[in-house]
Amino acid sequence: MSGIIACYNQNLIPLDELKVSITDRAFFFGDAVYEVLRVYRGKPFLLENHHSRLSNSLRAMDINGVTDLREDIVTNIALNQVDEGMVYLQISRGEAPRNHSFHNLSLKPNILIYTKPFIEHPSATEGALGIAAITHEDLRWGRCDIKSTNLLANCLIQTYAQQRGSAEAILIRQGLVTEGTSSNIFMVKNGQVCTPPLSPNILPGTRREFVIRQFLQQGQQVFERPISKDELYTADEIFITSSIKEAVAVIKLDYQPVGNGQVSSQAKLARTLIEDAASRLSRD
Ligand code: PDD
Repeated sequence: MSGIIACYNQNLIPLDELKVSITDRAFFFGDAVYEVLRVYRGKPFLLENHHSRLSNSLRAMDINGVTDLREDIVTNIALNQVDEGMVYLQISRGEAPRNHSFHNLSLKPNILIYTKPFIEHPSATEGALGIAAITHEDLRWGRCDIKSTNLLANCLIQTYAQQRGSAEAILIRQGLVTEGTSSNIFMVKNGQVCTPPLSPNILPGTRREFVIRQFLQQGQQVFERPISKDELYTADEIFITSSIKEAVAVIKLDYQPVGNGQVSSQAKLARTLIEDAASRLSRD
């Protein structure tokens, strides 16, 4: 038993006992949006960024009638007494007999929020040692900027990578880097920090934005520009960012060392900047 109390459509229910209808469109079609937020010192990290991305996803999916959930997120963290952990939030379009189109249906979105505690930082080891990654063709659809639960290609490709001893796959579309299966990508080459520009082909990551902003404040420019797969092989450093991993160096790409094969300085800086900001969250 997880002991986690979920909030489902404003009802408080133990997560292990929660039942949802199989007619939920999330079950049939992956017709839902979601957010994953880190909790540090009992507070959601980068809540405003997650909230505005959620609003954008809902708008893009034409899911309507969802109220502001920021207070519910804070309440659920407190209810579960989580100091270090993560919040999972999912909003499905609602329930209806199986039919692809939702034309002329007025559905009530189903809203799930729960908070899971972490004993230790889930990427502590990866942060210290770095990870291996492979490249893989980006097999996803054309609206990867929407954070939808329809993640089949991401799941298949990440599993494929892990079956081959790599933690992450870097996705390539028409010769250009898009992002990781569950992360954004940064590359350092000749001292220039680069990351693929925002487009419908990548998720606007909260950590991506945070790292760009913080680097700028440190006087370090970040170039948002296309990165080719060939260029990636000549990178001095590569690192990934996400809410769960924060910033983690890629020390091997397609089984070859990246740069000197060590955890790189910019990855360390990105991770430190995130950790510093997280440690400034106040407990009260
Ligand atoms: N995923 N790109 C993809 C495809 C992602 O799934 C994620 C995060 C990111 C990074 O976004 P952010 O920095 O806001 O976490 C980029 C979350 C962690 C997940 O699906 O669990």
